[in-house]
Amino acid sequence: MKDNNLKNIKNTATITALPSEGRGVVGQDIHVFAPATVANVVCGFDVLGFAVNEPGDEVVMRITNKPGITISKITGDDGRLPLDPAKNTVSVSVQHYLNSVCREDIGLDIELHKKMPIGSGLGSSSASTVAGLFAIKTLLGDETDAATLLPFAMKGEEMACGHGHADNVAPALMGGFVLIRSYEPLDVVRLPHPAGLYCAIVFPDVDVPTREARQIIRKNIQMKDAVIQWGNIAGLVSGLFMNDIDLIGRSMKDILVEPVRSMLIPDFYRMREIAMSLGAVSFGISGSGPSVFAFTKDEETARLITKKLQAHLTSIKIGSNIYVSTINDKGPRVL
Ligand code: HSE
Repeated sequence: MKDNNLKNIKNTATITALPSEGRGVVGQDIHVFAPATVANVVCGFDVLGFAVNEPGDEVVMRITNKPGITISKITGDDGRLPLDPAKNTVSVSVQHYLNSVCREDIGLDIELHKKMPIGSGLGSSSASTVAGLFAIKTLLGDETDAATLLPFAMKGEEMACGHGHADNVAPALMGGFVLIRSYEPLDVVRLPHPAGLYCAIVFPDVDVPTREARQIIRKNIQMKDAVIQWGNIAGLVSGLFMNDIDLIGRSMKDILVEPVRSMLIPDFYRMREIAMSLGAVSFGISGSGPSVFAFTKDEETARLITKKLQAHLTSIKIGSNIYVSTINDKGPRVL
């Protein structure tokens, strides 16, 4: 079992003591990777998420002599993301951070390299934002915990999806499996997880923007449904602590969000049947979809599930990307 690491993070981050010598010097640059994430983890809408090893996004950031942020290049986005720094989630989050550390004087040039699909339910905007924030934090020699950047990353989510949820950005920043115990005040808890849990991810090539996938879900729920849902969330978290993969599997059920969002995903229930028949521990929507994921007890089963699901999607004329990963406990890293 991994370390249980309790974090209490304030809504308004204040980072003051940055070392000045040799940091933030014109010409310095850095190349950072931040991982994709699986948010919700089926039953924990907006409160659970974990990071994976691949895919992920990369940011190259350089300190320039002209105050302000420019975005000189974005690759891998098919022209979908804005170069305007006032409209791009990476630069907006980084600007919030610079304001907080009173370094509005600094000049930055950003290149964003999208290495994962946009609108996939794999925390695409979060990976970019976290890569940007980790890059500026490292360039400026800010040695506060990466989790301190969470409120800035949530600003990026708010801009990307109309809501500042943290279940993608928190695991992307902190790595591992994360619970957002509370949003007001922000209280984020790193959870343990069994070693050797594999994640099979399939991204069917259909567009499901998070903003729209949030609009279609129910605004009110019945007490009897809430009882089932919170039993499952507690079961999942208990299974993570107890290293009990079967408990994890039987707790990963969602009666609130999945019945609605599954309609946006081609052959969702058929894909579940295929994955479970091949030995998946659990199966569900990743974030707001359309990606789906399964937990497995070994890599071989995860690879088999991704191949069979991809073949099924091909048979109904839908392209897909597939990934197999363990849970990524490290989060962002300098390349
Ligand atoms: N919890 C968010 C949602 C994650 O389901 O809308 C978005 O990826």
